[in-house]
Amino acid sequence: MSITISVSNQKGGIGKSTTAYNLGAVLALNHDKKVLLVDIDPQANLSEYLGYEPDGKPTMTQLIMTACTGTVITPETVQIAVRHSEAANVDYIPSDINLANSETMMSTALSRETILRRILSEDNVKGYDFIIIDCLPSLSTLLINALTAADKVLIPVQTQKFSLDGLQALDSLYQQIRSAINPKLSMLGVLPTMVDRTNVSKKALEELHEKYGDMLFETYISKSVEAAKSSESKVPLCMTDSKLGNEYERLAEEVLSRC
Ligand SMILES: Nc1ncnc2c1ncn2[C@@H]1O[C@H](COP(=O)(O)OP(=O)(O)OP(=O)(O)O)[C@@H](O)[C@H]1O
Ligand SMILES: [Mg+2]
Repeated sequence: MSITISVSNQKGGIGKSTTAYNLGAVLALNHDKKVLLVDIDPQANLSEYLGYEPDGKPTMTQLIMTACTGTVITPETVQIAVRHSEAANVDYIPSDINLANSETMMSTALSRETILRRILSEDNVKGYDFIIIDCLPSLSTLLINALTAADKVLIPVQTQKFSLDGLQALDSLYQQIRSAINPKLSMLGVLPTMVDRTNVSKKALEELHEKYGDMLFETYISKSVEAAKSSESKVPLCMTDSKLGNEYERLAEEVLSRC
């Protein structure tokens, strides 16, 4: 049985894609786990990080389009959309800019909240220990789909002023999805990101601790240019002798113990 983790926060630029990629890479490279990364963001930053180049084969866009027409998604359909990244030793399903039309595509589809869950069903994606979904920064139907497909949600939060703003809306969506569609969904944890030595960062950490208690990961991710360098070079942080590499390693250990 695989565990599906949705990396979600509707706030933009707070480290979701960096976390999805590097958590996946550590689990695969250092813990010998079979990992599938799933990009559902039309910006496709995760796909780019993974070295994806458009190759004419289906992406998440075609999978969602097919599901929207009511066609049953088969393992073969999904397999064609799965690529492999040597650098991170993970499989992945890329996204592309056309996924931006998903709201329109899904608006008339039957049971539109469960489209991604049907695509990523146990039959369609066999043999993975972890499936990690990198979400887009909006409270959209795609985010609802990710939370409906997931077993657990990991929420990265940038420790800045107003970092807690918007978390109320995400919490409320999480609760609604748990009660209406996906009762098995649970919180994996809240991950402070881009932590630095400023008082603002310290205060945000305190506020997060107050609000989330044990749900806050003990590990936090520091602010460092290593993140941008890693996405530029497409080398996972755990493969470099870096502070962030160590932090993502510690995060992976916490994730494994919480699962
Ligand atoms: N710990 C970090 N320290 C400094 N910069 C970081 C860190 N993590 C990520 N970044 C940088 O911040 C930017 C945004 O990161 P990332 O793409 O992971 O965020 P995101 O939440 O996925 O964004 P979006 O909401 O647009 O999808 C990138 O340029 C990335 O390299
Ligand atoms: Mg992103």
